[in-house]
Amino acid sequence: MVHKREQWGTRIGLILAVAGNAIGLGNFLRFPVQAADNGGGAFMIPYMISFILLGIPLIWVEWALGRYGGERGHGTAVAVFDLIWRHPLAKYIGIFGVLIPLVVVVYYTYIESWTLIYSFFHLINEVPSTPLTADIKDYLKPFNDFLGGIIGASSGSDIFFTPPLETYLFFLVTLLLNLYIIYRGVSAGIEKVAKFAMPLIFIMAIILVIRVFTLTSPDGRNFLDGLGFLWNPDFSALKDPKVWLAAAGQIFFTLSIGFGAILTYASYLKPKSDVALNGLASASVNEFAEVILGGSIAITASVIFFGIAGTQYIASEGAFNLGFMALPAIFANIPYGAFFGFLWFLLLFFAGITSSIALMQPAMAFLEDEFGLSRDRAVKYLGAFLFVSSHIPIFLKGALDELDFWVGTFALVIFALFEVITFVWILGIPQLSEKLQEKSLLSKIFIVLKHSPEYAWKELNRYADIKIPRIFYYILSYIAPLFLIVILLWWFVTTLPAKFIPEHINGWIARLFILFVFILGVVLVKKSWERKYGRTSS
Ligand code: PHE
Ligand code: NA
Repeated sequence: MVHKREQWGTRIGLILAVAGNAIGLGNFLRFPVQAADNGGGAFMIPYMISFILLGIPLIWVEWALGRYGGERGHGTAVAVFDLIWRHPLAKYIGIFGVLIPLVVVVYYTYIESWTLIYSFFHLINEVPSTPLTADIKDYLKPFNDFLGGIIGASSGSDIFFTPPLETYLFFLVTLLLNLYIIYRGVSAGIEKVAKFAMPLIFIMAIILVIRVFTLTSPDGRNFLDGLGFLWNPDFSALKDPKVWLAAAGQIFFTLSIGFGAILTYASYLKPKSDVALNGLASASVNEFAEVILGGSIAITASVIFFGIAGTQYIASEGAFNLGFMALPAIFANIPYGAFFGFLWFLLLFFAGITSSIALMQPAMAFLEDEFGLSRDRAVKYLGAFLFVSSHIPIFLKGALDELDFWVGTFALVIFALFEVITFVWILGIPQLSEKLQEKSLLSKIFIVLKHSPEYAWKELNRYADIKIPRIFYYILSYIAPLFLIVILLWWFVTTLPAKFIPEHINGWIARLFILFVFILGVVLVKKSWERKYGRTSS
C-alpha cells in the first residue's frame, strides 16, 4: 500500500522547521549548565571541535539518509536501514531512530510544560520575591521552593512526586497542543508553527540578551565578566575526558543528531532537494542560537550576580537550577522583572514545543509509512502512548534522570555510529560488487573502506547548492566514525561502570519502561514487514 507522503511547503518554511527542531531547551537550558559545569572557556574548545568533526558530518548523514528514505516512500531509520543494508536485522537496529526520540519526548514535554507554568505565573505576577543577599542558597531558596512546589518534590516521600493539580493540567495542555500540531500535518502544522515561533524566539532572545547586558551586580560585575567566563579559552581542560564527553554530548543533543528526528524531517523534502546547504544552514542557525543567544542569557546573568564560582556551584547542583532558579531570582530583583521572567519562560516554551513535535514525528512517520495508518489514527496511538508513559517522569522520583542518561545521552551515540556506518560504509557496497568478486575477506574490507565513502559523498552532493570543501570527505569518512568509537570507548571505561546500579530504585522502573518500548518496537516492525512482504522476508 503506497500512500502519498507529505512535503514541506517552502524552502524557508523547511529551514525554519528544522531550525525549530534543533533549537530547543538544549540551547537555553542545557548548554549554559554544561558550559558552567565544565569550566566555561575550557568547555568551548572541545565543543567547537566536536561541532566540526562530529556535528556537521552527522547532520549531513541524517539529512542524506532522510532524503534517501523519503525518495523511496519512507521516513524512519527502520526502513532506511532495511533499504541500504538489505539484511533482515537492519530494520531492528533502525528502531532506535524511532525509540530514542519517543522516549526522550516523554520527559521533554513534561519539562516544556513547566516553562508554560512559569511563564503563566510570571504573567499574573504570582512569583516569589527573593531577598538581595550575598548567600546564594538564601538568594535562590524562594525559587528552589517554587520549583519544588510545582513538581511536588517536597512531599517527604522518597519514591513519589506529588505535584498539584495545576501541574498536571498544564502538562495535559502542553501534550494536547503538541498532538494538535502533529495532527495538522507536516506543512499545515509543523511548518506553520515554525514560521510563527522561530522569529518570536529570536526577538525574545535578543530582548533578553540586551537586558542581561545592561545588568550590573551590587558589587559591580557586569556582562563582560560573564562573557569572559565563556570566551577565555582554557587549554588545560583538553586533557580531561569528562569535558570532551560533555562537549560531544551537548553537540549531539543540541543539533538533534543521533535521534532520527532530523532524518524524518529530511524525508519530507521535495524531489531533487539539496541537503548540503540545508543541513549546514540549519546547524549554523542552531549554533548561533546556542553560543550567542543561549550563552548570553542564563550563564551571563548568573556570573554577573553570583560570580564564576557561584555559577559553577549553581550549575553543579542540578540541570534546572540555572534557568528555573537563578535567572528568575535575578529578575525578581530588577524593575519589570516579572515581564522579563515571562519572556524568558515563553521563549523556552516556544523553543521547547518546536522541538517536542520534532521528537514525536518519527513515531508518526513509522505508523504512517510502515502501517499505512492515517494521520489521525496515528496521532491517537501516539497520544495514548505518551499520555500513559508520561506518568513515569511526572510521579516517580529519579526516573527522568535515568531516561535522560540511557536514552537521551547514551543510546544516541550508538545510534549515530550506526547511521554513519550505514551511510559511509554500506551504501556503496552494491556498486562495488564487481570489484569485490573473488577477493579474500581482508581485501574485500580494504576495498570497501577505500571506495565506499565515494558513493556516500556522491549521495550527499546530489542536487547540492554548495560545494562542500573536500576536507569534509575525510572528516565524514574517517574522522567522524573514529571519533564516535573513541567517545564510546571512553564512556564504557569512565562512565558506564558507575551507572550499572541506578542511583534511585525508580531507575529500575525507568529501565523496564525502556525495555518494554524496545520490545514493542520489535514486535511492530516484525508485524509491519510481515504484512508488507509476507513471512519469508523477516
Ligand atoms: N535539539 C533539541 C534541543 O536542543 C532537542 C531535540 C533533540 C529535539 C532531538 C528534537 C530531536 O533542545
Ligand atoms: Na539545539
